[in-house]
Amino acid sequence: MKKVLIAYDSRTGNTQKMAEFVAEGVRMGGNEADLKKISELKKADTLKGYDAYVLGCPTYHRDMTGGMKTFLFLMEKAELEGKVGGAFGSYTHSGDAPGIIYDTMEYVFKMKMSDLGSFNLKEALVADNEGLRACQDYGKGINEKLAK
Ligand SMILES: Cc1cc2nc3c(=O)[nH]c(=O)nc-3n(C[C@H](O)[C@H](O)[C@H](O)COP(=O)(O)O)c2cc1C
Repeated sequence: MKKVLIAYDSRTGNTQKMAEFVAEGVRMGGNEADLKKISELKKADTLKGYDAYVLGCPTYHRDMTGGMKTFLFLMEKAELEGKVGGAFGSYTHSGDAPGIIYDTMEYVFKMKMSDLGSFNLKEALVADNEGLRACQDYGKGINEKLAK
């Protein structure tokens, strides 16, 4: 069984809901998913020991949140090269944050990123069964990358 950290930021709960369903998708494949708010993760040591890292962040002002920027500097210290990664978030119209985070994980941390790319879900679909299934599928994609 592989261990997956799903660490998210969320101001109004939409990305948190997505994170819960991404975690479900990971668990459906028999892997362990630890679901944490980034505010709970303050030390680089708490980031060690995982096989995959999936970051959730909504887009505000065409950017990731300030908290996620700080969290990425903590991630920098966690020896992530070759680990599996993914990024997702809720948005309304531009959805920039997951793509920026995905690129940082790929090019700066040199992680093995999900074949599904980054994943954006429109705010209006967060309460929708189809949207939540898409979140589960993103978690399943992490399992597939772990199996490769
Ligand atoms: C002040 C403000 C700025 C926003 N800026 C953007 C934006 O630039 N692009 C976008 O796609 N969504 C933007 N949104 C929409 C949020 O990304 C959306 O509400 C999302 O579902 C929030 O996720 P959360 O509940 O996880 O915080 C903005 C929302 C607010 C309130």
